[in-house]
Amino acid sequence: MLINENISLKPFNTFGIDALTRYYTEAGSLELIQEILQSDIAKNNPILVLGGGSNLLLTKDVDALVIKNQLKGIQLIHEDVEHYFVKAAAGENWHSFVMYCIGKGYGGVENLALIPGNVGASPMQNIGAYGVEIKDVFESLEAIHLMTGELIRFNQSDCAFGYRESIFKNKYKNQLIITSVTYRLKKIHSFNIAYGAIREELDRMQINSLSIAAIADAVIRIRQSKLPDPAILGNAGSFFKNPEVAAETFEKLKADHSGMVGFPLTDGKVKLAAGWMIEQCGWKGFRRGDAGCHIHQALVLVNYGHASGAEIYSLSEEIIQSVEKKYGVRLEREVNII
Ligand code: FAD
Ligand code: EPU
Repeated sequence: MLINENISLKPFNTFGIDALTRYYTEAGSLELIQEILQSDIAKNNPILVLGGGSNLLLTKDVDALVIKNQLKGIQLIHEDVEHYFVKAAAGENWHSFVMYCIGKGYGGVENLALIPGNVGASPMQNIGAYGVEIKDVFESLEAIHLMTGELIRFNQSDCAFGYRESIFKNKYKNQLIITSVTYRLKKIHSFNIAYGAIREELDRMQINSLSIAAIADAVIRIRQSKLPDPAILGNAGSFFKNPEVAAETFEKLKADHSGMVGFPLTDGKVKLAAGWMIEQCGWKGFRRGDAGCHIHQALVLVNYGHASGAEIYSLSEEIIQSVEKKYGVRLEREVNII
């Protein structure tokens, strides 16, 4: 077991923030995780579990032990008439897992192609895109409790999945290391193309016969056209959640602000497009030093090179305040603030 001291986390977060961690280690086996948790350093310091670092903002140096999850392996563990049950280790790259499933004919995750990060973080905020969320294919997960070393299994009903929410982001925050996730994937594919942009892209691609591969292709093209590539421009995807409001609130907002964008939800509420409100407040393309609001997608904050996490955080605070002042709606950050 090797625990390094004073390591820069810059290569390990997609915002490209140059913050130090007091202790850093990588774990590629369950035995090694247990061994690390038994160490004095683990017992005497807070622990931060890291996946691909694509959903966090480091606002300061980290006075903790960072454990980068490197568990690998994908296994078909069971099948029934309709489903494949596939268990993936937490350190597997999410997009590679999606492409693996498509190659094997396992349906259900194609709409989630090209989301950065690792399998282990997929239940954390119940990742979602283009009409699908991980909860739609989630079967169970296994995690080790950081204090007790106990291996715990969570089934779908234990996870309190919601829009960009789960029990792992709340009650169990910083208490577990997720080691594997089992997904329930379809043998007979049902295609989810309700999201308008997918249909338009499939038309442009002149796809006549739908397949999970074609949907993944369409999603990849849309994402590449809209979202900045973290390898080129530091970011963590949407910085804020899209707020959900009552239908009457939406009607009032629409009456007061022409062009207000909202999407009706099944529970009668309306999801507001935070990107639209941020753009209307004049932030789109804004840059101060190296911290900015993306030129094509106002929901995404970016690091042009040497911004600190504190500068990006402070920009996010100004955005929250200006949106609240103009619309009376308080934006909530989606990204994990460290
Ligand atoms: P990290 O950033 O490493 O960690 C995120 C949080 O989970 C941290 O609190 C960390 O402590 C915790 N964590 C990570 N792994 C474990 C583990 N094994 N056990 C316990 N805790 C753990 N998200 C979406 O939902 N939909 C999108 O469409 C989307 N698009 C994106 C586009 C871009 C360009 C970028 C940069 C990000 C996007 N994201 C999106 C956000 C991000 O990709 C996801 O949240 C992803 O699941 C984060 O995975 P990660 O491994 O990088 O997690
Ligand atoms: N919009 C603007 N200006 C902008 C950005 C968006 O007006 O600068 C408006 C547009 O009208 C558009 C609407 O906002 O119709 C929605 O935009 P888009 O389809 O790009 O989606 P989003 O709300 O910005 C959400 C997720 C993404 C996910 C996409 C596709 C959240 C917080 N974000 O983005 O997830 O990939 O939908 O499903 O829910 C992430 O979580 O990191 C992420 C990228």
